[in-house]
Amino acid sequence: MAGPAKIEVPEGLGKPLDERSVQKLREDFPILKQLVHGKPLVYLDNAATSQKPRQVIDAIADYYESYNSNVHRGLHALSEQATQAYEGARGIVRSFLNADEDREIIFVKGTTEGINLVASSYGRAHLQQGDEIIISEMEHHSNIVPWQILCEEKGAVLKVVPFNDDGELLLDEYERMLGPRTKLVSMTYISNALGTVNPVKSIIEIAHERGVPVLIDGAQAVPHRPVDVQDLDCDFFVFSSHKVFGPTGMGILYGKAEILDSMPPYQGGGDMIRSVTFEKTTYNDLPYKFEAGTPNVAGAIGLGSALEYVSRIGMNNIEEYEKSLLSYATEAVSSIEGVRIIGTASQKAGVLSFLLDQVHAHDVGTVLDTEGVAIRTGHHCAQPVMKHYGIAATARASLAFYNTRADIDALVKGLDKVIEVFTL
Ligand code: ALA
Repeated sequence: MAGPAKIEVPEGLGKPLDERSVQKLREDFPILKQLVHGKPLVYLDNAATSQKPRQVIDAIADYYESYNSNVHRGLHALSEQATQAYEGARGIVRSFLNADEDREIIFVKGTTEGINLVASSYGRAHLQQGDEIIISEMEHHSNIVPWQILCEEKGAVLKVVPFNDDGELLLDEYERMLGPRTKLVSMTYISNALGTVNPVKSIIEIAHERGVPVLIDGAQAVPHRPVDVQDLDCDFFVFSSHKVFGPTGMGILYGKAEILDSMPPYQGGGDMIRSVTFEKTTYNDLPYKFEAGTPNVAGAIGLGSALEYVSRIGMNNIEEYEKSLLSYATEAVSSIEGVRIIGTASQKAGVLSFLLDQVHAHDVGTVLDTEGVAIRTGHHCAQPVMKHYGIAATARASLAFYNTRADIDALVKGLDKVIEVFTL
C-alpha cells in the first residue's frame, strides 16, 4: 500500500468531545485496554509520553511490511514510495502547524534535538561575547542546557525571566530584560511541570518590536491546542512526535525559511550536500541541509498519521474537552485533605502537579502504580521550578483527550489509598 501523499488536513472536522465520544476513541488505543497489577490501567502520564492509536501503529507497520526503503536515494519503486510517504508527512506537519512552506519543516529526533540544532547553528553563527539569550525560570532542562553550553562557548549571558508563586511569568521583568544585546528569546508554550500556558503571542510580539527572534518550545502545547505558527509569528517552533500520539525518536523544528536559509548546517553527511569534493563541499537546499544521514522514515510516517488522527478529532475540540477535564481533576484532587497544588496559573493545560502532606512524591507514585494509576513523580526535568518552590519533587498527573472523569475518580481513589497506607 502506498504511504500517505501530501494531505491537507481538514480543520476541526470532528464534533465537540464528550465522555461518550471519548469512550469510542479509546477503542483506537490498544494499550489502554490492559490490566496493570490486576487493575485497569489509568494512564495519566501523558506529559512524559502519550499512547498511540491503532492507526499510527498500522502506518508504521505498513511501511516496514510493504515499502521499507531509504528515501531520496533509489530510483526503484519502494524508494519512491518511501520518499513520497516521508515527504507527504512533511506536508501534513506543515499543514498542521499552518507553516507557509514544506521546506520550513525539519525532521529531527525530538524537541531536544530541535533546540540543540538552533543553539548550535543559529547560536554559533549569531552570538558573540556579551550577547544575551532570554529564557524563563519554568523551562525544561532541554531549553536551558543547550543555551548554557552555547553561552559558555561564546562568553554570552543567559537571562532568566522569573515566575510568581502561581506559576505565571513576570512579563514586566521580561520586557525589562530585553536589551540591545539580546539575540534570542527561547520560551516554553506550556510548562511541563506546572501546566502554565504562557502568553507566547505577546512574548513574541514584544521581542519582535526590538528585532529579537523567538523560539517556542511547543512540546506540551501541540497535543492540547491548535497551533498556527504564522499567527504566532514565532521564528522557530519545536515539538516531539511522541507527545502527540506519534512514535518516539521523531520531532519537528519549524523555522521561518529566511532564517533557516541563513543558518550553517548542523551536522554533515549524506543528503545534506549538493556536491562534495575534497576542496569544497556545497550544501543542499532546505529542508535537507539540516537532515544529514538516513532519516527516521518510519517516525515521520507515524507522526504524519498521528497528526491526521488528531486533526480529524479537531484540536479545538481536544482543547475544550481537556479544559473541562482539568477543572474536574483540579477540584477533585484539591478537595483531598493535605493536598497542595503546585502551579495555579489562571491559564493552564494538561498538567496537575501536586504534593501530599507528609508523603514523598515517589511514594505517592509507587502506591498509585499498585492501583493501576500511572503518573510521573520527580523534578520533571525542570529542577529550577522545584527550586522556586523549595521542593525536590512533585507528583504529576497529566492528561490526554482519551482520559475521562472515571480516570480522575480512580486517581482520587488511589490517593485515598496512599493516605490510608501512610497514616497507618
Ligand atoms: N518532558 C517529559 C516530561 O515532562 C519527559 O515528563
